[in-house]
Amino acid sequence: MARIQKKYRENVESEFFVDTTCIDCGTCYWVNPEVFKRVGNQSAVYQSPKGEESEKLAHVAKYACPTNSIGHRGNKIHPPPFPRNLEDNIYHLGFHDRKSFGATSYLIKTKDKNIMVDSPRFVRKLANRIHNSGGLHWQIFTHQDDVADGDKYKEEFDSKIFYPKKDRVPPRLKVDTYLDSTKSEIQLSPDLLAISVPGHTKGHFCYLYKEKFLFTGDHLCFSSHLGHLYAFINHCWHSKQELYDSVCKLRDYKFSYVLPGHGTPKKFERAKDAMDSLEKGISWMEKNM
Ligand code: SF4
Ligand SMILES: [Fe+2]
Repeated sequence: MARIQKKYRENVESEFFVDTTCIDCGTCYWVNPEVFKRVGNQSAVYQSPKGEESEKLAHVAKYACPTNSIGHRGNKIHPPPFPRNLEDNIYHLGFHDRKSFGATSYLIKTKDKNIMVDSPRFVRKLANRIHNSGGLHWQIFTHQDDVADGDKYKEEFDSKIFYPKKDRVPPRLKVDTYLDSTKSEIQLSPDLLAISVPGHTKGHFCYLYKEKFLFTGDHLCFSSHLGHLYAFINHCWHSKQELYDSVCKLRDYKFSYVLPGHGTPKKFERAKDAMDSLEKGISWMEKNM
């Protein structure tokens, strides 16, 4: 729980505050950029929420924060808002974990199964809500950095784990199916395709659902600063050349909603707009690598 005694000096006066335990994972500023901003080496409240929607999103940020560094001094109790619907049958699971440096995990609810993409912190309230919405059948992982409490969710739900074969497996994670990245793509179900995108790590995969939602882990994300999609060339643990090639490879796929591990989920009007943004990212990489 955030402590007022540790309140960061850069917060403005507000019901919300950030304390000095913040690890600067960036989650609160993509969830509610109106209220939270990076000041110095961490986040601070720089403006009180204006209106109901902004207040709601400030509470989303509070419960998503991996270090419980966001405090709220109001009297009303706000229950955790997760799983939080983003669009269609796609949900933000919240409860980010510091073990994955606050990476975002998602839930896809299909007719016959619920699928977790990467993993959040294990929180009993969240597990109960997943039970109430039919349980958890599959857990699919993009790469080794975003496993968090994946092993605990498997224990709770006896779900089936899909994991990149060439990435390091955390000791407690029991993998059911290894995804072989010598294959360019693997059809996991009629609507769900695993695409091998090495670069950030050796075995990194993206997941494309219904030719619309692209779950990208740490491969690709939208930069509001640059105004287009891009890849983390400065946080590349395996090969920048392979990262570049894997970004170019996405030209062959249709998608219009990019859901990354770090950074804001980005919805494009049309698949063509996503492709234009990808092309800008590729040109940017060519100049900056
Ligand atoms: S979500 Fe928490 S840890 Fe991450 S930047 Fe915000 S306050 Fe800091
Ligand atoms: Fe990563």
